[in-house]
Amino acid sequence: MSDAPVRRRFFAGTTEDDLKEFMVPFVARLGYRLNTDSGFVDAVLSSELEILAETGDVYCPCRIRTGDPKADVAIICPCIPFHLDEFAALRKCWCGLFIRTDVEDGSSLEGVIEETSGPVDVRVAAVGDLVDGQARHVKIGKRDIALVRAAGEFFALSDLCRHAFGPLSQGFMEGYHLACPWHGWRYDVRDGSTDHPDSVVRTYPVVVRDGEVFITVEV
Ligand code: SF4
Ligand code: FES
Repeated sequence: MSDAPVRRRFFAGTTEDDLKEFMVPFVARLGYRLNTDSGFVDAVLSSELEILAETGDVYCPCRIRTGDPKADVAIICPCIPFHLDEFAALRKCWCGLFIRTDVEDGSSLEGVIEETSGPVDVRVAAVGDLVDGQARHVKIGKRDIALVRAAGEFFALSDLCRHAFGPLSQGFMEGYHLACPWHGWRYDVRDGSTDHPDSVVRTYPVVVRDGEVFITVEV
C-alpha cells in the first residue's frame, strides 16, 4: 500500500497538461474557465509546478502560505470553492488564472487583485435567456437565488421557501407572484412578501445593462 498522503492530487512529474486536465472541468462546474491569455496561464501553472516540487502540493502562487496544512487547504489550486463571494465580485480568482465564463477577454483581469468589499453586480443571465413568467435558479457564492422575469422586468429573491425550503425557482409565476412548487405558498417577487406572517424572503436588487442581467450582492 502506498505511503503517500491521500489528500495530495499531484505528484513529481506532473505536467501543465495534467493540471489543466483536472482543473478545467472542476472550475467549469463553478462557472469559471482558464484565462483567455494562454501565455499568462502557462506562467501561472509553471509557478504552481515549481511550488509543487518544493512543497508537495499546488499552492497558490499569489498567496502566502501559513505553514499550517489545515489553513493552507484554502489556497490549494483551484481554491475557488473557498472564496466564492470574492471571486464572483472580482470575476476572476485572485491570480487571474481562472475567470468567470462570461468574461470575454481575460487579459484585462490578469494578475493579483486583492479582495473587494461592498456591493458588486454579478452577471447572472442575458436578457433573452428568460421570457416573461419564467424563473431560474442562480448561485452567487453561497446564496441560492431565484431570478424571475415578470412584465418585462427582472427580480431576484431567495430561492428557499420559508415554509419548508422548497426551491422557488422551480415554482410557477402568475403576474408578479411566484408560487412554491411544493405546497403553493405565493411570494410577491417585488418585495418577497407572502400572505403568511413573518415569512418574507430576501430580495436582491437587479440591474439590466447592455442586454445583461446583474444581481447586486454585498461581499
Ligand atoms: S487564486 Fe487562482 S491560481 Fe491561486 S490557487 Fe486560487 S484558483 Fe489557483
Ligand atoms: S416548501 Fe414552499 S410551500 Fe411548502
